[in-house]
Amino acid sequence: MPITTQQLIQWKQQGQTIVALTAWDYTTGRLLDAAGVDLILVGDSLAVMLGYETTIPLTLEEMLHHAKAVRRGVKRALLVFDLPFLTYQESFQQAMHSAGRALKEAGAQAVKIEGGHPAIIETVSRLVQAGIPVMGHIGLTPQSIHQLGLKQQGKTTTAGEKLIAEAIALEAAGAFSIVLEHIPSDLAAQISQKLTIPTIGIGAGSKCDGQVLVTADVLGLSERQPPFAKVYVNLSEAIARAVQDYASEVREHKFPTK
Ligand code: KIV
Ligand code: NA
Repeated sequence: MPITTQQLIQWKQQGQTIVALTAWDYTTGRLLDAAGVDLILVGDSLAVMLGYETTIPLTLEEMLHHAKAVRRGVKRALLVFDLPFLTYQESFQQAMHSAGRALKEAGAQAVKIEGGHPAIIETVSRLVQAGIPVMGHIGLTPQSIHQLGLKQQGKTTTAGEKLIAEAIALEAAGAFSIVLEHIPSDLAAQISQKLTIPTIGIGAGSKCDGQVLVTADVLGLSERQPPFAKVYVNLSEAIARAVQDYASEVREHKFPTK
C-alpha cells in the first residue's frame, strides 16, 4: 500500500521513525523504493546532480522532468516535490500553479517549500486549502544561500525561539511535516516534542521523527558533503574502478571475449 501523509502523522504518534531520501531519476527512485524508504523527495538538491553550484538556477521544468522519471520508479514511498527557488515566493497564485504542476504533471503527492515567515505560512495555508499536502522546511534553507550561507541556524536563544514559532505556525497552517535542516539537536528535539506533525531532520540530531539525507551524499557521489552527511558507500571510487577495468580490458582486447 502506498504511504500517505496521514500515515506519517500516525507513525509519529506510534513512535515509528520515518526514513527519507532524495531521488533524481527513475533508477534511484526504483532502488530507494524497493529498499523500503518511506518518503522520497525529489529535492532541488537535484541541482548538484545536474552540475549546478547551488539550488538557485534550477527551474520548475527541470524539476518536473526529473520528478516524472522518479514517479515511474516509486510505488510505495510518499513522493514529495521540492518547489525550486522563485516558483512559489512571488504570490500564492504562483505557488498554486507550480504545486499544481507537481501534482498533475509529475504525479507527486505533496510539495515542499522553504521558510517560515508570514508570507510562506499564508502560502502553505492556501495550498493546503486547495487540497495540496505541504511539507515545510526551516533552519538552513539552501535557497537563501546568499543571505544565510550554509552555516548552522538557530544557535542563539532568540534564533531558536523564532524557529520554534515558525514550526508551530507551519503546523497550524496545515503542513503535514517539516524538514529541520542544520540546527542544534536540542532545538530540533524541542520542536519535535511541541508538534503533532513529524519533523524530518538533516543535520538536526537524533531526536527528530525522521531523517533525510541527500542520496548522492549517502552514496559517495557528491564532490563535497555537508558535515552532517554520512557516506554509506563510496560509489565514486567503485565507478572509477569499474570504468578503469573496462577501459584496460578493451584496450588489451580482453573484452569482449570470443
Ligand atoms: O533538496 C533537498 O535534497 C532537500 C533535503 C535535503 C531536505 O531539501
Ligand atoms: Na531542497
